[in-house]
Amino acid sequence: MSREPLLGGCGLGGAALASCLVAVAVALRFWVVRGRRQALHKACSQQEAALEAMGRSVGVFRSQNPGLDEETVLALPLAQLVQKLKNQELSPEAALCSYLGKAWEVTKEINCVTSYLGDCKAQLAEGAQQPEVGGLLYGVPISLKECFQYKDQDSTLGLCRNIGFPAMEDSVVVQVLKKQGAIPFVHTNVPQSMFSYDCSNPIFGRTLNPLNSTKSPGGSSGGEGALIASGGSILGLGTDIGGSIRFPSAFCGICGLKPTSGRISKRGMKNCVDGQLGVLTSVGPMARDVSSLALCLRALLSEDMFLLDPTVPPMPFREALYAGKKPLRIGYYESDGYTMPSPSMKRAVLEIKALLEAAGHTLVPFLPSNISYAVEKLIPGALFSDGGKAFLENFKGESVDLCLGDLTIILRMPNWIKGLLSMLLHPLLPRLANFLSSLKSRSAGDLWNLHHEIEKYRHSVINQWKMLDLDVVLTPMLSPALTINYPGKATGAVSYTMLYNCLDFPAGVVPVSTVTQEDEKKLQKYRGYFGDFWDLKLGKGLKNSVGMPVAVQCVALPWQEELCLRFMREVERVSQEARKQTSRPSGPY
Ligand SMILES: *[C@@H]1O[C@H](CO)[C@@H](O)[C@H](O)[C@H]1NC(C)=O
Ligand SMILES: *[C@@H]1O[C@H](CO)[C@@H](O)[C@H](O)[C@H]1NC(C)=O
Repeated sequence: MSREPLLGGCGLGGAALASCLVAVAVALRFWVVRGRRQALHKACSQQEAALEAMGRSVGVFRSQNPGLDEETVLALPLAQLVQKLKNQELSPEAALCSYLGKAWEVTKEINCVTSYLGDCKAQLAEGAQQPEVGGLLYGVPISLKECFQYKDQDSTLGLCRNIGFPAMEDSVVVQVLKKQGAIPFVHTNVPQSMFSYDCSNPIFGRTLNPLNSTKSPGGSSGGEGALIASGGSILGLGTDIGGSIRFPSAFCGICGLKPTSGRISKRGMKNCVDGQLGVLTSVGPMARDVSSLALCLRALLSEDMFLLDPTVPPMPFREALYAGKKPLRIGYYESDGYTMPSPSMKRAVLEIKALLEAAGHTLVPFLPSNISYAVEKLIPGALFSDGGKAFLENFKGESVDLCLGDLTIILRMPNWIKGLLSMLLHPLLPRLANFLSSLKSRSAGDLWNLHHEIEKYRHSVINQWKMLDLDVVLTPMLSPALTINYPGKATGAVSYTMLYNCLDFPAGVVPVSTVTQEDEKKLQKYRGYFGDFWDLKLGKGLKNSVGMPVAVQCVALPWQEELCLRFMREVERVSQEARKQTSRPSGPY
């Protein structure tokens, strides 16, 4: 019997060499996988240990303060909590321990906390020695999305390769918040790599929606959304490159603001792809109400931030713009013509439109042009200009979380397969085909063209906006929360949010309603505008949501965060008043 050499013509020596190489490759792979497994194991036990430490802190505090009414502390809106801390009716320790206790309890149910920032207790002790209460967030416990680097803590982004590299120092925003007296106390969960609007990863597992465990909390700031909505935090910081602050806010029923990308420092924020400048990430606040978002922005936009990161425009919070009372000229659309709104999304926009009109504002139909072009060409082209190479580096030796859908598989295809598939799919599934062809790697020249196209697109929408003389824009916000694992399959549904990352306009969401039986019934007929895979999955993922929150989105022109917040406050006010009216007991009184 003759043995065929492995490599034709290389003879026995070649075969031996080849087998040797294969053996080395297998051993290397085994070693990498084993290393990752050990790291994973270590991280899991770290999370367990962190939660135990958190539990112990809570226990110690409760035994020392038997009289504290934690429920009352937790029920205070941020403005009142700040007031009580300032006039020393309430100690920072009481505030921290109430939230620590609550966060510890809820995370056992919904798994939203990834680590306990244990030196928050040391920070308390420091504050006690110098009890000046000047900071705008004096004594306020605050939660951080896992990507904000915090001294001596890992920021893993749910990737095993990032385990065991604790940060050397705090991110700029963390430093600024601390200077304002805030007390960061936990890191919260993200989807693996943060490129998803779901929230699960192989290290920390899945975060559940606190309102219904069959639903996603949204992502990528999903741990924040879930923790704040369940009462375990009063203020949190997230990031947003396609809706990552707005999805979890809408899915969990809280408020969130994505500022213009340059307004808040990103120094010290961990990312899985660096140097991508076509569509930019924003850092922004998440909280139960709009006034808390404004307070957080006011605190961040301080001299300290401008000193620590001089690349940020030194533009403090413009109170007059936020406090304005003049009626607004508001553009609105009930559908973007790309992702068919769910019945509740559409109803929410129309109800808010009517309430705003009744409150004296002017509403004008408005729809940015070429949304499909932005969503299928500009955005994926920018995010994956290198064909996904830098993104995929993160996944070497990693198991890929289900919540990412097929993204890594598609990106791994060589350019020619992406091109060929795109051509074949085009007649039947045009938008998937366009999306696919945008994921091809491109030359520097083509990248410059793309950046130029984005610039032109931005200005064309600004022109449209100016022609109508608008102050702000009201749009639907994808809601209610999708069922777990559906966000990764309904990619096109990012159109409502991601458009404003491409345009780099500030955009925030406010919860205004909940899904009714009637909405749910109408959803049975949901087909989408395209009837393709994305639409099919979206229709399915939206189902079974009676009672879940529904939000609207509020948008302003670049750098007009204060005006955006003013508009959000107005939306919050009219919707709360309307809800009070309808829930007023009726009858023969
Ligand atoms: C829409 O995009 C196309 C490119 O696909 C461009 O030729 C056209 O001018 C754009 N229209 C507007 C109104 O921006
Ligand atoms: C959660 O949603 C499911 C359907 O997806 C429903 O059967 C269940 O009653 C809901 N649970 C709660 C607590 O609302």
